[in-house]
Order: sequence, then C-alpha cells, then structure tokens
Amino acid sequence: MAEVVIVPTPAAGGEIVADEIVRLVRSTPTAVLGLATGSTPLPVYEALRPRLAGVDVSQVRGFALDEYVGIEPRHPESYRAVITREVVEPLGLDPDRVQVPDGSLDGIEHAGSDYEAALRTAGGVDLQILGIGTDGHIGFNEPGSSFASLTRVKTLTAQTREDNARFFDSIDQVPMHCITQGLGTILRARHLVLLAFGAGKADAVAGALEGPLSASLPGSAIQLHPHATVVVDEAAATALRFADYYRYTFANKPEWQGL
Ligand code: F6R
Repeated sequence: MAEVVIVPTPAAGGEIVADEIVRLVRSTPTAVLGLATGSTPLPVYEALRPRLAGVDVSQVRGFALDEYVGIEPRHPESYRAVITREVVEPLGLDPDRVQVPDGSLDGIEHAGSDYEAALRTAGGVDLQILGIGTDGHIGFNEPGSSFASLTRVKTLTAQTREDNARFFDSIDQVPMHCITQGLGTILRARHLVLLAFGAGKADAVAGALEGPLSASLPGSAIQLHPHATVVVDEAAATALRFADYYRYTFANKPEWQGL
C-alpha cells in the first residue's frame, strides 16, 4: 500500500517532498519529474527553490499532467503559463526540457498520442507529483476514467469547473475540456507522490487510499502502484480509518529508507 505521511502543515509536506526530489536530482541529474498544477503542489515548488540552489538541474526534464483545451498558452491560467511561472523560472529548469500537453484546438486529435510518445522517448517519469480533486480525480481523470487510460481529451465535471473558477474571473471562463495524462500513463511513473491539504480533500483521500478500487474514484488507482507516497495534513487525514497506523509506521521508519 501507499506510505501515508501526516504532516502538521502544507509547508511541512512541501519540505518532505522537496527533500526527496533533491535526493533524486542529485543521484540522477537526468531525472524526469511529473509536474502537477493547482494549489496543492505550490509548497513543494516553494521548498525546492532554496534546496535546488547550487544543484545542477540543467538536464532535468519535466512533464506536466494536464492542460486546458482551447486556452491561449499565454493566458495566465493556462497550465503552460503556470508551469513556467511556478516551476521552470523559479527553479531554473531548461524550458526546452519541460513539456505540457498541447491544448491547442489545431491538432488536438493527435496531441494525446504525441504526448505519450514524448513521455516514452524521455524514458518515463521518475517522480510524479499529484494533487487530488474533491471528486477524486488525479490529473484531470474525472470519475469513470479507465485505469488503463492514456493521455487524451476529457470533459471537466461541473464540480471541477466550480473548484477551479477561483483561478478565473468567472466560472464561464473555465474551459470545458482538458487534455490529461491517463491513469495508465500516471501509473507508469516510477514513484507517485500524492499531496492533499485541507478538510475539503478528506473524503477523496480516504476513498482513494482505503476505499475500493473504482473508476468512480480515479485516485484509488494509486492502490495499484508499488511505490506511492501520500502526504496529507491533519485536516485532509480526518476521514482515514488507519491514521494511527500511518503515524506509527512513519514514526518507526528506518533511517535508510527514503520516501
Ligand atoms: C493539476 C491536476 C489536478 C489537481 C486537482 C487538485 O495538474 O492534475 O488533479 O491536482 O484538481 O487541485 P488543487 O491542488 O488546486 O486543489
């Protein structure tokens, strides 16, 4: 099962994950990082900034999880713009080595297979950062997504559009469609690190970790992965049945074991 780490604050969660990413980049300078957008991974990117200063990141590659369809890449809320602003520039990554699915309408029919090909050519993702939606989505794999799905166009649920309206002037501006790595794509990454903060994520986290495997709760796909780490704050951990066991396991974790 996934290792569950319950942290006091999102900042503490960001630091734990950032430490693991730095370890990875130091040992594998050509590491391929899977990058999530949204609010959840921001403490990770923030904690990475001082930690990566002085570390050679020139060969690091990055692949974003998803993008809105039909949004201008220059729009401040396109995931291309968010990844540039929050990750590439502050961490000093080479922009040519960081890809985001192409959400332009022109060529959208082959954008998914192109992205799959790029991921394979890069040798796959070493560490995939994930958030989780209140409806249980990971990437933008909304409920009903196949566990075998690959990068493709999806329709966002009304719930996700409502949740993401905070990034736009109004809900009408939130795109209806997205292009997202599939659950099958995400499961190929060598290490999954899912973060969730706040009470609004508690049910989705409990369902993903402890509920039945179900396409109705796409986050439950992480139960299939041999190396998954879930980092949650106390509020997001409130519905976890085995929270005490997770705390006990982490407190007794052998020194030699990384995340
Ligand atoms: C973003 C992504 C989504 C978000 C999820 C949670 O690239 O793939 O799955 O992680 O919608 O969003 P936040 O973090 O804003 O609560």
